[in-house]
Amino acid sequence: MKILGTGSAVPRKTVTNDMLSEFLDTSDEWISTRTGIKSRQIITDERFEDLAAKAASRALDASGLAPDDIDYIICSNVANLYITPTLSSLIQGALGIKGPNCPTMDVNAACAGFVYCLDLCDALLATGRAHNILLVCAEEVTRFVDWNDRASCVLFGDAAGAVVVTNGGDDMLGHKMTCVPMPEVIVYCNPMEPTPFETGEGIDRHRTFEMKGREVFRMAVTAAANDIKDVIAKAGLTPDDVDHFLLHQANLRIIESIRTNLGQPHEKFPTNVERCGNTSSASVPLLLDEEVRAGRIKRGDTILFSAFGAGFVTGTALIKY
Ligand code: COA
Repeated sequence: MKILGTGSAVPRKTVTNDMLSEFLDTSDEWISTRTGIKSRQIITDERFEDLAAKAASRALDASGLAPDDIDYIICSNVANLYITPTLSSLIQGALGIKGPNCPTMDVNAACAGFVYCLDLCDALLATGRAHNILLVCAEEVTRFVDWNDRASCVLFGDAAGAVVVTNGGDDMLGHKMTCVPMPEVIVYCNPMEPTPFETGEGIDRHRTFEMKGREVFRMAVTAAANDIKDVIAKAGLTPDDVDHFLLHQANLRIIESIRTNLGQPHEKFPTNVERCGNTSSASVPLLLDEEVRAGRIKRGDTILFSAFGAGFVTGTALIKY
């Protein structure tokens, strides 16, 4: 697997912590000290699928490939307006990829979606099922969080990040995907309509987004640090050999705890959570694109991706860029 090009897009609207404190019982001081977040980009009068297509188009341009060179499109997304058709098929149309020989599918591995999908891409490329894959991670979390719940809504932002991968190299040095079934720590249910044949008893239809923040924090730090060490050791390397640790941008304190646990310097842990918040599965590819475009990530660098999320899932991948 080789990453040929990266791209990203964020919505126009910037929402600062002070703007949130105008309608929520919160403050810039509380949010910044607990999470590191100062502001986030929030989707307003934009179409989500356009944001996703913009990131995809930028990754395609950077890859140097033509739209019809793409023979698989995979999207990572937790929830969006369209339950069907898939976001990946909408992106196929927006990019003018004709088909019919370009299958598309959406994957939901929560905030670990990018790492899970990269692993999937690696497998599809290795078996020759695909040659050039467009992977787009796009999230509009702010459209489904509970805006009355100050403990969770202040954490999120919207974004899209994309990569084009091809089977021209041997980038994947190691990977580990895990899941421990714990739906109670992060849950969001679709408000589905009852059928004419049910009483509705025992079915909680209108649950909004719920999260046990402290539990997620503790599990994230422990699981991510262990998985990162495991993957690096299995590749015959040490954390010192890794040039960049691109971690899920959920909370600066989580990133800091993992960094300290690994005994690595700040420079190896770029962040954007301060200005983007937690953008779910878009967070890692967004960060990757920012670092690549800023020239801080170069060809030949060793990169560790790590993300965690609802499930409870974790995904870790080590690549040579
Ligand atoms: N503004 C002000 N006060 C707030 C607040 C807000 N936005 N949100 C919660 N509080 C209050 C709580 O009501 C509580 O008050 P109390 O002590 O009077 O009951 C107090 O702050 C402490 O709440 P607590 O939840 O214990 O805070 P915390 O230090 O654990 O920080 C999180 C909360 C959510 C920031 C932190 O647990 C976290 O980041 N967890 C990980 C979440 C995550 O990454 N989720 C995404 C996974 S992909």
